[in-house]
Amino acid sequence: MNDASGRPIRRAHVTGWGRYAPAQVLTNADLEKMVDTSDEWIRTRTGIRERRVAAANETTASMGAVAGLRAIHTAGIAPDDIDLILLATLTPDYWMPSTAALVKEAIGNTRATAFDVMAACSGFVYGFATAQAYIQAGLAKHVLVVGSELLTRFLDYTDRSTCILFGDGAGAVVLSASDEPGGALGVEMTTEPQGAYMIWLPAGGSKSPPSAETIARGEHYVRMEGNQTYRFATKTMATTALESIRRSGLEPADIDLFIPHQANIRIIEAVAKGLDLPMDKMFINLDRYGNTSAASVPIALAEAVNEGRVEIGDNVTIVAFGAGFTSGAVTIEWTADPARGRSADDAVRPEDVRVRLPVDWDSVDPIPDALADLMGQPGPVDVPLDDVAPGEPEHAHPHAEVPA
Ligand code: UT7
Repeated sequence: MNDASGRPIRRAHVTGWGRYAPAQVLTNADLEKMVDTSDEWIRTRTGIRERRVAAANETTASMGAVAGLRAIHTAGIAPDDIDLILLATLTPDYWMPSTAALVKEAIGNTRATAFDVMAACSGFVYGFATAQAYIQAGLAKHVLVVGSELLTRFLDYTDRSTCILFGDGAGAVVLSASDEPGGALGVEMTTEPQGAYMIWLPAGGSKSPPSAETIARGEHYVRMEGNQTYRFATKTMATTALESIRRSGLEPADIDLFIPHQANIRIIEAVAKGLDLPMDKMFINLDRYGNTSAASVPIALAEAVNEGRVEIGDNVTIVAFGAGFTSGAVTIEWTADPARGRSADDAVRPEDVRVRLPVDWDSVDPIPDALADLMGQPGPVDVPLDDVAPGEPEHAHPHAEVPA
C-alpha cells in the first residue's frame, strides 16, 4: 500500500513479545495476616487471588531487561538491532537516569535512543503508540516497548484499600517497520486531569521533596480514591477502545481478543457489557498478578499469544487506563507466528541478566518491613545485597560486563 505521494506506507508490526514475573507469590491469605481483609472480599470485589513480589536484588530495570530480552528473542533479532527503547513505569529505579537507559545497557544494546514514558497504568499503551509513530515517521526500524513495575515498594501495607491490589512484573514487545499490511492500526489516547489526585503518590517530587516529615505522613505511598477511579475506568476503557476500533475501520464484533488493563475483573466485565461482547473475548490474568500498572497489558499480551489465544490475522485491541487520569487503546492486526514466543522464557534466564550498579554506594534493603517475613529477609538492615543475583554483579564496577 502507498501513501498519497506514492511512497510505501510504513507499518508497525508486533514481531516480539515476552514477560517476566518474579518468583515470590503474595496470596490473599498472606494479606489477611497484615490488614483487616479477607480472601473472599478481595476475590469478589477485584478477582485477584495472588500477586508477585520482586526480590531484594530485583528492580524495575532488571525485570524490564529480562522481559525485553525475551521479546527480542521472540522477534529473532539481536539486541543491537533495536534503535529505540521506550520504558513505561511509575516505579523507576531512580528519579534519574531513566530506567530505559539502564535497560539499554543491561540488554547489551549500544545504539538505541532510550527514554521512559510516564502515564501510570496507561504507560505501556502510550509507549506502544509512540513507537508506532516513530516507525511511521521513518525514525526507527525496531522499537522495544517495555512496561515494568515494582509497586510493592510503594504500598502502605496498613491501607487495605490499596495494598491488596498491586503486584510486580514486566512485559515487553518489539515493534518492527514493514511495508506489509496489518500491524498497529487505530490509536486513541485521552488525558483527563480532573482525576489528577484520584490516584497519586504525594511526596518525592518537587512539590513535596522527600523528608522525614513526608515519610512520617506516609506520603511516599500510592493513594487512591477507589470508587471514583472505578467509575472513570468503566466509562473510559469502553469509549477509548471503541474509538481505537473505529479508527481501524472496524466494529467491536470484529475484535477477536481484548487485552484490557488488569485492574479489576468487575471493570473488565463492565467494559465487555459496554461493548456488547462476551467475556471470552476479554483476556484475564489478574487473578495471578493483581494490578501491575504499566506492566499489566504487555504481560497479558505475551501470555495470551503464548497460550494460543491469538492467531495470524486476528484483530487484537489493547486498552488501559490509569492515574492522570489517562487512557489509551491500540487495535492491532496480528501478523506474527504465535509459536515464536514459547521458547523465550527458557532462552533468557533472569540470573544471566545484570543491571550495573553505581560504585561505592550501598542501597538500603528495599523490601518493605511488612513483606520481610514473606521474602525470607531480615529487617531493613543486614541484607547481603552484594551477594545476590540477578541484576547485580558480584562487585559493582563502572565497566562491569554486560551480557551479549
Ligand atoms: O490501575 C488503575 C488503578 N486503580 C483501579 O483500577 C482501582 C479501581 N477501583 C476498584 O477496583 C475498586 O473501587 C476497589 C477494589 C478499590 C474497591 O472496591 P469497591 O467495591 O469500590 O469498594 P469501596 O471502596 O466502595 O468499599 C466498600 C467497603 C468499605 O467499607 P464500608 O465503608 O462500606 O464499611 C471499605 O472500607 O469495603 C471496605 N474495604 C475493604 N474490606 C475488606 C475496602 N478495602 C477492603 C479490603 N478488605 N481490602
